[in-house]
Amino acid sequence: MTMQKIVQLQGQSLKGTITVPGDKSISHRSIMFGSMAKGKTTVTGFLPGEDCLRTIEAFKQMGVKIEQQGTDVTIESEGMDAFQEPLDILYMGNSGTTTRLLLGLLAGSHVHAVLSGDESIAKRPMKRVINPLREMGAHITGREDGQFTPIAVKGTTLQAIDYTLPVASAQVKSAVLLAGLNAEGTTIVREKEATRDHTELMLRQFGVNIDTTDGVISLAGGQKLTASHVAVPGDISSAAFFLVAGAITKGSEITLENVGLNKTRTGIIEVLEAMGANLEIQPYDHEHAEPAGRVIIRTSELKGTTIGGNLIPRLIDEIPIIALLATQAEGTTIIRDAEELKVKETNRLDAVVAELSKLGANITATEDGMIIEGPTQLHGAALKTYGDHRMGMMNAIASLITEGAVTLDDADCIAVSYPTFFEDLDSLMK
Ligand code: S3P
Repeated sequence: MTMQKIVQLQGQSLKGTITVPGDKSISHRSIMFGSMAKGKTTVTGFLPGEDCLRTIEAFKQMGVKIEQQGTDVTIESEGMDAFQEPLDILYMGNSGTTTRLLLGLLAGSHVHAVLSGDESIAKRPMKRVINPLREMGAHITGREDGQFTPIAVKGTTLQAIDYTLPVASAQVKSAVLLAGLNAEGTTIVREKEATRDHTELMLRQFGVNIDTTDGVISLAGGQKLTASHVAVPGDISSAAFFLVAGAITKGSEITLENVGLNKTRTGIIEVLEAMGANLEIQPYDHEHAEPAGRVIIRTSELKGTTIGGNLIPRLIDEIPIIALLATQAEGTTIIRDAEELKVKETNRLDAVVAELSKLGANITATEDGMIIEGPTQLHGAALKTYGDHRMGMMNAIASLITEGAVTLDDADCIAVSYPTFFEDLDSLMK
């Protein structure tokens, strides 16, 4: 049963402070690397969202001892060599990151595993990871020759490769690097456009010698990870919903604490600044591997902008909420070079255009993005989430400015990355 939700919040100003929940990408990696390392890894600030819980379950099924209580996790592992072959399929749920990174991680292990997920996962392209992994010698079979889940991987001896990423994808980069850790020789990944570098930063934290210079990432095979402590910062992709909410609602001022400020992720801040948003950033002075800080957003006068090129990978998950933001900006906003949106949890290009059009936005789809004219007074409508958490949150934030109610056909999906989304929203309306 999916939960329908009706939200009618027009005219609400948002005031107060929220602490953004843990970063999804970093939470996944903390569990994976902690499981690969021999010893005890502790994680604080973990995101107990459904995707990251799938990652925990997968490693538990391979015999790793993991205890999770809220945002605290302890992982006690005998190291990757002690992984047990799972007795059942590893269920990926909605999580592309779990699926793609695990394929790379297991390709050079000694275990056999079958990965399968929900309806959305079954449609997402897996060849992008399987192609380079097969080049390394991986034994992987799957539906339509490995294009789609269910996918079986039988760990084997791998050879290093020198691989240029054909798509700007941190998941593909990470899968190849994780396979490279178990390969003979030095694996090199070349990026044309920088993608999120959490894997590189965290591998280093776990004692791996990894070189990252000018878009060329290399690591020697045979390196073992050393258990560590991971402090997960808040997810800027979750913060984005409230940054936009604060900017587009009248009389608002929201302080967001613990926002991850890794440069490969801060495209949303640059877009808000380019659009003229009233925004303040106060970086924390701490020693963690990932930078974080406080971000304050106030009601803003916005103007249209153009978003494309190497900015896209730095804000790819924020495009649905940026599209809503653009409906409230004066003039034209153009989003281009964003074809990757078509292969996210749903086709986010079509979904964003369809749902914002239902609200009365002036928005047109293009081959590789969208064009939005603003500002427009939006009206209420019955909206679809497509089982996609970020579509769900975009729809809910839209209800703050629509005349009339917005209905979400399924609000449950929001728990994938932001289980406390509605609580945080409520707390700002007191
Ligand atoms: C992620 C990388 C991105 C992003 C996803 C998480 C990661 O996907 O959209 O939400 O954790 O590496 P791609 O690698 O497909 O661009």
